[in-house]
Amino acid sequence: MSNELAERVALVTGGARGIGLAIAKRLSGMGARVAICDMVDSADEALAALPGESAYFPCDVTDAEAVDKAVKAVVERFGSLEILVNNAGIAIDGLLMRFKPEQWNKVLEVNLTGAFNCCKAASRHLLKAKDKGRIVNISSVVGEAGNAGQVAYSASKAGLLGVTRTLALELAGRGVTVNAVAPGFIATKMTDEHVVGEAREKLLASIPLGRIGDAEDVAAAVAYLCSPSAAYVTGHVLRVNGGLYM
Ligand code: NAI
Repeated sequence: MSNELAERVALVTGGARGIGLAIAKRLSGMGARVAICDMVDSADEALAALPGESAYFPCDVTDAEAVDKAVKAVVERFGSLEILVNNAGIAIDGLLMRFKPEQWNKVLEVNLTGAFNCCKAASRHLLKAKDKGRIVNISSVVGEAGNAGQVAYSASKAGLLGVTRTLALELAGRGVTVNAVAPGFIATKMTDEHVVGEAREKLLASIPLGRIGDAEDVAAAVAYLCSPSAAYVTGHVLRVNGGLYM
């Protein structure tokens, strides 16, 4: 286990399970103190899985005021904030003709406005952190490639790439880097339940590396972008998709 992120505080949204939890574990293992922000009743199990100091700050990322309060509470508790990982996200699928405006709004609100709220609330602290400041946005392969039945989800994930590049420019003057990770198919509860049988075989055949990814594959990419080794990498989209889209 390295200590590369000692002296850093990381906030991971949606960190109570799945990919977010894997990211939280990885950053914690690198010495960061980790704040998990999520909407679950209890994150005790998640916190117990982290090797270092950590705490849970319940918060709905769509609520700008709640996000402000949570970020303040994180800084009060740990003294600073150097790393923000915008991972909280939802997917509502459906073909355009049947997709409801409320569904469109909900997906955009969580995946895109949620990330905006967190960037805005955290930016003051990240600017203070100067060269240690990092934002990593969790996009998706479908943000670049598109996917039938995911109009809102792919729009939100493509939107995150615009946010990434713009904030990379806005925050570069103080050495804060802003990057995106675009995972392909990652084994989580969601994909395990929905991608079964023939669909699973078809999916595997379309992935050059021949396997569905793990949350740890995504966490490793995030860890790199948060590390001192990535100090000169900004505005980048790091694809973690087994070659599914290039
Ligand atoms: P998940 O559904 O297992 O976890 C998402 C977490 O975000 C949950 O803990 C949930 O409570 C939290 N969350 C949802 N809405 C929230 C809100 N308004 N405020 C605060 N927290 C909220 O999902 P998973 O699979 O771990 O995905 C994590 C991220 O990775 C998402 O942004 C997803 O779009 C993205 N992703 C996932 C892929 C996959 O194959 N699983 C592929 C590409 C991207």
